[in-house]
Amino acid sequence: MLNFNYSIPTKIFFGKEQIQSLIGQINQYGTRILLVYGGGSIKKIGLYNKVVTLLKENNLPYWELPGIDPNPRIESVRKGIALCRENQINFVLAIGGGSTIDCAKLIAAGFFYPKDPWDLMIGTAKFEKALPLGTILTLAATGSEMDPIAVISNPEINQKIGTGHPTMAPKFSILDPTYTFSVPKSQTAAGTADIMSHALESFFSGIRSAYLQSRMSEAILKTCIKYGPIAMVEPENYEARANLMWASSLAINGLLSYGKERKWSAHPIEHELSAYYDITHGVGLAIITPHWMEYVLDDSTVDVFKDYGVNVWGLNPELEAYEIARQAIEKTKAFFVSLGLPTTLSAVNISEEKLELMANAATKHGPLGEFRPINAHDVLQILKASL
Ligand code: NZQ
Ligand code: ZN
Repeated sequence: MLNFNYSIPTKIFFGKEQIQSLIGQINQYGTRILLVYGGGSIKKIGLYNKVVTLLKENNLPYWELPGIDPNPRIESVRKGIALCRENQINFVLAIGGGSTIDCAKLIAAGFFYPKDPWDLMIGTAKFEKALPLGTILTLAATGSEMDPIAVISNPEINQKIGTGHPTMAPKFSILDPTYTFSVPKSQTAAGTADIMSHALESFFSGIRSAYLQSRMSEAILKTCIKYGPIAMVEPENYEARANLMWASSLAINGLLSYGKERKWSAHPIEHELSAYYDITHGVGLAIITPHWMEYVLDDSTVDVFKDYGVNVWGLNPELEAYEIARQAIEKTKAFFVSLGLPTTLSAVNISEEKLELMANAATKHGPLGEFRPINAHDVLQILKASL
């Protein structure tokens, strides 16, 4: 197991009516609030009203940045920073899914950077501090509610970049599974695939000695396999929504990847698909992941696939290792299909045209992953196989 420093500073308020913790938490950090939210789902479910009523009752002035798009844009971040500066904002509250939270994170950090916040994403400027941020999560998927990562798109130059810094970790997150009852089937499916992908990226690691973390990854995967389908057919099943929500946070907050390298494979490929075609993150992952698995299965990796097949999918350990691996990959694909997710790029209107461009872009900082490192040529083969 590699050395690691444990630090997961976000306080979690989990469960029904945990919104009652909101004001007490905000009071610890700020007095002038920027509300960041998406296209209106929080109004439909009555959450917006709840929050503004609480803020008004407690004489906390607030300003609003609505309309954050899925695959949030750098333009929204710029707008949010300007609002914060004009109104002496000292606390940012994100209400929504990963896109809203990521956007809020970069607003919080960009507030202290005098030039264009995109510099922070591409690494030409350093993160130093950030406004305190809290979140109210409405979609179980990215884990942004408990990690220090922001993923932001710059559509003008077809770039989607993820970057992390401890200052962007939310101070607190309110996780009330009932807020996810309204998540439509398509996003429930995509979110489940995203959580699974986070667990898989850590599970299929070059470091084989972090046994405990691998078993925890399996637990997250089994949770998604059990509860994803239930949430699809019973959107108001509290047990299913609660388990998915907590899985979302645990899959990427560090617990699964501590002691392993954190070089991922499917994610950087998917980010290029979203950068060029603006597709839903979890959908892209569901398409790429089984093809990536097929591509990296060889003598050096088959044992890990065997663990995956036996421990996650309950396959017979007596079978030959390659047979287990192949069946496990098939089961992964079939599971995504059962959630109504597409299995090919053509199903989301992606043709061969930009595959090479995307393969090069995904690997511009070097090969992906350490489980079985893949270069631009490999990524191109995976993309072609996914067509
Ligand atoms: O905009 P609204 O109206 O809120 O609707 C959203 C949006 O259309 C809707 N939604 C959210 N909660 C809902 C709801 N609809 C009904 N009821 C609710 N309770 O769902 C749609 C998608 O929302 P979005 O925030 O885009 O989804 P998600 O949480 O999957 O976030 C995806 C973004 O996060 C990034 C992805 O790349 C993508 O940009 N990621 C962030 C990560 C991180 N910060 O750690 C890691 C991930 O791997 C990922 O890359
Ligand atoms: Zn993801």
